[in-house]
Amino acid sequence: MKSETNILTDNFGRHHSYLRISLTEKCNLRCTYCMPENGVPLTPKSNIMTADEIFKIATVFVKHGVTKIRLTGGEPLVRKDFSKILERLSTLNIKLSITTNAVIVDRFIDNFKASGLQDINVSLDSLQADKFTFITRRNQFKAAYNNIILLLEQGFNVKMNVVLIKGFNDDEIIDFIAFTKHLPIAIRFIEFMPFDGNNWNKEKLVTQAEILEQTHAHFGRQDVISLENEANFTSRNYQIKGYKGTFGIISSVSNPFCDSCNRIRLTANGNIKNCLFSNQETNLLEAYRQDKNIEPLISNLIKKKYAVRAGMTDFETLNNPENHTNNRSMITIGG
Ligand code: 5AD
Ligand code: SF4
Repeated sequence: MKSETNILTDNFGRHHSYLRISLTEKCNLRCTYCMPENGVPLTPKSNIMTADEIFKIATVFVKHGVTKIRLTGGEPLVRKDFSKILERLSTLNIKLSITTNAVIVDRFIDNFKASGLQDINVSLDSLQADKFTFITRRNQFKAAYNNIILLLEQGFNVKMNVVLIKGFNDDEIIDFIAFTKHLPIAIRFIEFMPFDGNNWNKEKLVTQAEILEQTHAHFGRQDVISLENEANFTSRNYQIKGYKGTFGIISSVSNPFCDSCNRIRLTANGNIKNCLFSNQETNLLEAYRQDKNIEPLISNLIKKKYAVRAGMTDFETLNNPENHTNNRSMITIGG
């Protein structure tokens, strides 16, 4: 599978074995960094992939070497036919995972177990209820928090995504790490990234360097153990000596990790995106509905992938607002 002629291998020799499928543009939260304040115009339902189309399109990717599929959104669990989608995808010979805000996770524990899904990424940007309500514009802290504990009790591998925003939650970095003392959870601090309508500016960024500085000052440099990078990593990981869990930093802005990128995204309306930061998309759904071969479309977009962040190699280019207002907002990309 892993050859230069493979349709999932790009011009830099990166093989894309990890497909992230967004199931819906809808969400039961309204995170400010993800959704523009006035929401987003939703794609008409008829242009959203059905459960069957998701399965059939995913099958094409699996045939060419995809070994891991992550379900994202919006919030994937708000999709009425979520269980059906999960059940069908579980028949493919792949590793299945999901990214969720955890608010209604308790309803799906049995479905997760039945489909063999073990890896669950949850998003929680504050350990304080009032701050959570502020950032998500919804009063659901208790539900999300209790469900994260429930997932851990049920033995799932849980990673917790924390988008850091200067002046909002950078004072909780130590609290989040303290959370890993007794719990086998992997916290991942994510640098705030620019997308359409999310009011990003570099003043709001909390960088990898700042996170490590705070951590070293609090725990002592010798007790912050640097862990080995995983293959195709996004997160550089650490552990406090003697702690059960770990923490990591996803530094897409200050220190990108595009060299080993193996990720390709399929949006809920059937577009593929070769990079989170790219506004170039190819619609597979229409072609699929017309019974056309979607393989050349996939191959073409993979071959157009840039080495780094859709061509925004340096920070100055990424910092230019013109370069992100023409990308989608995160809610319609799916993490
Ligand atoms: N910057 C960084 N991470 C983001 N996410 C959503 N929007 C942004 C952004 N602007 C993350 C959320 C969630 C995942 C789906 O994507 O934390 O965990
Ligand atoms: Fe919903 Fe996740 Fe976006 Fe928040 S970040 S609005 S939980 S999709």
